[in-house]
Amino acid sequence: MTELSVIGSGYVGTTIAACFADLGHEVVNVDVDQAIVDAINDGTAPIHEDGLAELVTDHAGANGTGRLEATTDYAAVLDTDVTFLCLPTPQNDDGSIDLSIIETAADQLGTTLAAKDAWHTVVVKSTVVPGSTEDAITPILEAASNKTAGEELGVGMNPEFLREGTAVHDFLDPDKVVLGADDERALADMHEVFDPLVERSDAPVVETDTRTAEMIKYANNGFLAAKISLINDIGNICKEFGIDAYEVADAIALDDRIGEQFLRSGVGWGGSCFPKDTAAIRAAARQQDYEPAMLDAATRVNDRQPDRLLSLMDDHVDVAGKQVAVLGLAFKPGTDDIRNSRAIPVIEGLQARGAEIVAYDPVAVENMHERFPGIEYVHTPTEALSKAAVALVVTDWEEIAALDNEFDLMSTPIVVDGRRAIDRRDGIVYEGLTW
Ligand code: UGA
Repeated sequence: MTELSVIGSGYVGTTIAACFADLGHEVVNVDVDQAIVDAINDGTAPIHEDGLAELVTDHAGANGTGRLEATTDYAAVLDTDVTFLCLPTPQNDDGSIDLSIIETAADQLGTTLAAKDAWHTVVVKSTVVPGSTEDAITPILEAASNKTAGEELGVGMNPEFLREGTAVHDFLDPDKVVLGADDERALADMHEVFDPLVERSDAPVVETDTRTAEMIKYANNGFLAAKISLINDIGNICKEFGIDAYEVADAIALDDRIGEQFLRSGVGWGGSCFPKDTAAIRAAARQQDYEPAMLDAATRVNDRQPDRLLSLMDDHVDVAGKQVAVLGLAFKPGTDDIRNSRAIPVIEGLQARGAEIVAYDPVAVENMHERFPGIEYVHTPTEALSKAAVALVVTDWEEIAALDNEFDLMSTPIVVDGRRAIDRRDGIVYEGLTW
């Protein structure tokens, strides 16, 4: 058992704090937001992640094991051995990441650690471009704590591979654990923290330095984003030839070197990670005077998919003055997150065509309403379809995939599917984006 502190209570911070408590560690989660801190201390999860509510109830609050606590006070880190930094790294206008939030936290953490005599290890969990830990975060920690990294202070980097919606599962059953450290003692501390997880999950452990650990995260997300863009590119070619890209994908997936995951072609990738991380590593590469041709192309293909969806619609109908149902607003099923959702360019394209939009999503309406307050939102897909001449499928929620007779309510049943959610059948004009 190790005493841990986790700075930041976003979806990564809260998830890892609760999971580490479940693995037997004593964990304190530090966040500036009093409401989040109060929620955790009441035994309530401040965000929705499958399985998180149960873990927070099990380990925090009056009936918990007491292994999980939250506070706004950085001094709590002094009673711990290892601190994880889980802070956001937002995107600048040029695509590069903004380190200011994590730098401020490092400064505050370092200032707090100045009062500690014993060794302490700080682990960067946030996604940061190669060199950020070594060149930016470590010097701030050293200056603020008046300690030298490798002598009185350990610094490590441990990238996360958690998907939104399955973060608890992804943490507790990882494909790999990457431990990046520039000194042996920090590495040993990280091993101690992860040993219970590694024993339980049998996950392979990759030991490396902090720069390589940082790069592994970008390589992982860049590869997956590019894999989807490649199947989208191939899918677009299939569509031109009247071939079903999903039949092609099923066949190539049988090649072990390709594998079956992330081969669902369609309207493309969104969310807070793939778009931001591909932009950040491309910007970082350019700063090194390297042109990241493949990752540039992956982004270009992704940017084009919503236009292809709209142009398939244009082939059937001029939507000016007509009502168009947009089915699904979240960037993927299982979340209310609309960041970089493909629904955004789809709605913009419909607006540019003078269409009247009727939008539906089981959970993301409130968020999309903030982004597009002027469009109509309805409570059921049936309501959207009964008003519409065309339906565009943007997110493959099960509820949307289950629609069938409801399409008969449309004035002209034209369905353009960006996610292969709907079954082609007689009585509707059906266009699949890549099939
Ligand atoms: C992604 C990675 O999968 C995680 O490993 C990583 O930790 C996370 O980013 C992060 O960096 O924090 P996430 O953004 O939650 O996770 O979502 P994914 O499930 O990977 O989906 C991303 C997008 O790709 C979604 O818009 C999804 O619809 C799309 N997608 C996914 C496809 O279009 N086709 C596919 O075959 C798979």
